[in-house]
Amino acid sequence: PTVSAKHGIIEASLPSGESVAVYLYGATVTSWKANGQEQLFLSQKTHLDGSKPIRGGIPLVFPVFGPPPQNHVTSPLPQHGFARNSTWEFLGKSSSEAGKGDLAVKLDFGLSHTMLSEEFRKAWPYEFGLVYSVTLTKGALRTSLQVTNEGKENFEFQVLMHTYLSVEDISNIRVKNLESKTYIDKTRNATSHTESSPALAITGETDRVYQGLDPATPIIVSSASDDQPLFSITREALTDIVVWNPWIEKAKGMADFGPDEAYQNMICVEAGSVSSWQTLEAGDSWEGGQSIKSRL
Ligand code: BG6
Repeated sequence: PTVSAKHGIIEASLPSGESVAVYLYGATVTSWKANGQEQLFLSQKTHLDGSKPIRGGIPLVFPVFGPPPQNHVTSPLPQHGFARNSTWEFLGKSSSEAGKGDLAVKLDFGLSHTMLSEEFRKAWPYEFGLVYSVTLTKGALRTSLQVTNEGKENFEFQVLMHTYLSVEDISNIRVKNLESKTYIDKTRNATSHTESSPALAITGETDRVYQGLDPATPIIVSSASDDQPLFSITREALTDIVVWNPWIEKAKGMADFGPDEAYQNMICVEAGSVSSWQTLEAGDSWEGGQSIKSRL
């Protein structure tokens, strides 16, 4: 594998042609190429200069998902927390055999309380260490996060890997293995529902938090026309899945989303732990992650 680090962007590629690019800003994966194709959606209007979180790829949500609740320790934080708008450090690479002669390359990134802006450190005054690992293999990308409580008091957190998958045509996309799961519909006053569809179609603005999923059961994003799987996502310790598409009006309303019609070329399927809080005791660590396979 080759790895380069230039202008705050770490890029890795495998002899078989797969590649990944990660910005130190947010430790945001902005590109993943597999089977000769880009797998992630990146808005053409995204800021990449560190002035705003990156719109596309895989922004990392920590320690709070969505707008922080009122009268909560996370209340002073911005939507989705500080991980996606802090600058991480590159901790290094390692490569290994991934079986059948294939190679894997792993990139590690770190963020700790000492690296936060003063504003964020004040807003969330805990001593923590994050290690985010991005592993590229043939046909798959794994992202995993280790959270360590380095302080003397417990803290609570939520986490989410906000993956923007690239798709040709949203009308041809179905999301499978959500059937019978409970979800909160954020487009309908956070009301609770049960998914009735074995293959969810996206036909309008969609913002749902599916809860209590078995991380080992893959979420399948498939093509309706030929019923072929495009992506399969398994998780570790992440039991929620957010399905988000802004659709026409919301897409137009986001200054960093473009072109306007690009909502047709993306679907966010986000693996997380967001419907409640993980409590981490002083000195303890927690780890969770996702593996995305492309065109199985
Ligand atoms: C999703 C949320 O995860 O992220 C949506 O469920 C939100 O409610 C979307 O609109 C995008 O958030 P942001 O902060 O990147 O615009």
